[in-house]
Amino acid sequence: MNSHTPEANLHRGAHWLPFTPNRDFASSPKLFARASGVHFYTPDGRAVLDASSGLFTTPAGHCRPEIAEAVHRQLLELDFTSSFQRSHPKAFELADRIAELTPDGLDRIFFCNSGSEAVETAMKMALAYHRARGQGGRTTFVSRERAYHGVNFGGVALSGMVNNRRTFGPGLPSALHMRHTHLDENRFTPGEGAHGADLADDLERLIQLHGAETIAACFVEPVAGSTGVLPPPQGYLSRLRQICDRHGVLLVFDEVITGFGRTGEPFAAQTFGVTPDLITMAKAITNGAQPMAAVAAHRDIFQTLVTDSPNPLSSNEFFHGYTWSAHPAACAAALATLDIYREEALFERGRQLSGYFLEQLFSLRDLDIVTDIRGLGLMGGLDIQPARQPGERGHELQKRLFDAGLHLKTTGDSAILAPAFITTPDQIDQSVEILRRVLKTF
Ligand SMILES: Cc1ncc(COP(=O)(O)O)c(C=O)c1O
Repeated sequence: MNSHTPEANLHRGAHWLPFTPNRDFASSPKLFARASGVHFYTPDGRAVLDASSGLFTTPAGHCRPEIAEAVHRQLLELDFTSSFQRSHPKAFELADRIAELTPDGLDRIFFCNSGSEAVETAMKMALAYHRARGQGGRTTFVSRERAYHGVNFGGVALSGMVNNRRTFGPGLPSALHMRHTHLDENRFTPGEGAHGADLADDLERLIQLHGAETIAACFVEPVAGSTGVLPPPQGYLSRLRQICDRHGVLLVFDEVITGFGRTGEPFAAQTFGVTPDLITMAKAITNGAQPMAAVAAHRDIFQTLVTDSPNPLSSNEFFHGYTWSAHPAACAAALATLDIYREEALFERGRQLSGYFLEQLFSLRDLDIVTDIRGLGLMGGLDIQPARQPGERGHELQKRLFDAGLHLKTTGDSAILAPAFITTPDQIDQSVEILRRVLKTF
């Protein structure tokens, strides 16, 4: 083997892959050398259909020249400026463009670089907001079982997926967990399940038990994504909103996956008609081409932390930020991405494709191994009967799919589909056909 081939590098072993069983990977490496449209290509040129938009990142399809050229131009014009007491025009332009998409009132945009950072930023905004209003005792967060809010310590505290928490406590920020919303009664239901709005009352119970004066914010993914796509029960999110309002608790939607059209509207907040106080977003913000994330804050939060700050010359108004906040290349990528979404009406296209996608996905319910299917917009989750060890079969499924020419994410024994908005009905058929064929091998 040539010492410069990717395979040779792999065997040298310096690269420690995240969220990967590394020894298993080394024994059968899955490499992509290039991508175009809705396909990845392996180093030997085999096409693999991308049924996950990368990792929910790439709804406009891979390797869009408009984005690549915008980044290239930007790097030759202004490669870097700090955002600490300096900035650049594209950061302002992008913030305004994002604020045109967010729900009314959430028009202050704070940039960071990953979904995990957006979650930490939103947690700190919530703490700082209450403190500035003389309610510094509100330091506990409420989130949900089966939630995924990234991998930094705040997000791990909020997380409700056991493996993400187990090794890293104690000492995490204080967080209480509501029950998840995966109910037997809603099995094989597309869209929002009819049962389970009352699970929102867990928030009321936790607030009553611990005292509203201790609770800063309630974090939820409007559609829980990484755990296997759990759409909210009908009426659930509006009930959370009412409870938060009653007790002065901030409501945060983690839209790292659902942001930018995944549920048919720019944000799931609009799809479900519920406006939170903070929205976190990442992934599709640059169509996956540059690392970037953001928090959209309600203008009242900005007012409290910034406009009403007693000392206008102090950066202490919100003592937080990242070297790469609003990186010029990421801003250029995001602006080019938002142009594509608008010019190609991609959110509308995704909305139109959703019915067909869900219909085809749900056609797999006749397979014995399939125990549940869920989906909303262009997100779908399919559970398979676990083997002896939970997650073992899901992992094997993902590997067999790769060999059969389909890329998708699995979590435990759930397969997660999130096709790009440019996917054609034929390509949906092809994904479901490969999935059916591979599921039958178990
Ligand atoms: C809802 C949600 N929040 C946060 C994150 C973390 O994002 P990142 O991996 O960019 O840190 C993810 C990642 O999938 C996510 O789905």
